[in-house]
Amino acid sequence: MRVNHVGEVCAQALYQAQALSTRDPALRQHFEHAAREETDHLAWTQARLRDLGARTSVLNPVWYAGAFAIGLLAGRVGDRVSLGFVVETERQVEEHLQGHLDRLPANDAASRAIVHQMKADEAGHAAAAQAAGAVPLPAPVRWAMRAAARVMTATAHRL
Ligand SMILES: [Fe+2]
Ligand SMILES: [Fe+2]
Repeated sequence: MRVNHVGEVCAQALYQAQALSTRDPALRQHFEHAAREETDHLAWTQARLRDLGARTSVLNPVWYAGAFAIGLLAGRVGDRVSLGFVVETERQVEEHLQGHLDRLPANDAASRAIVHQMKADEAGHAAAAQAAGAVPLPAPVRWAMRAAARVMTATAHRL
């Protein structure tokens, strides 16, 4: 659940940076709307960590700053690439959440409900970005994103 919380910290940062980067007011609203849903996710995962007596990642400021920089970079390249980045990110998050659902104990209904709803929302974010005109990212970029996500996941398990 701490990994999920870190993911939502990054989602906030990405969407806020992308909202700042675009010059298109409609697209800015799109990013801001998604960022608000990620705020809900952040709150749910944080509350669940508290209930479980677990802490959030001590590296959250680092995750936030890194993701913000990546969001700005994606935004600089152009709106359609920025949207493509959203599609790929949300798809990878969705996969990760499915993996988490597979591993979560069947009797942890509270955690399962949160992960389930987040997974549905992330799929919605990917679909909305796709509908807004996302272009597919080149394969090497997608691989780099997966590698970065693995590092983040492994680190957030411990720190
Ligand atoms: Fe989320
Ligand atoms: Fe999302």
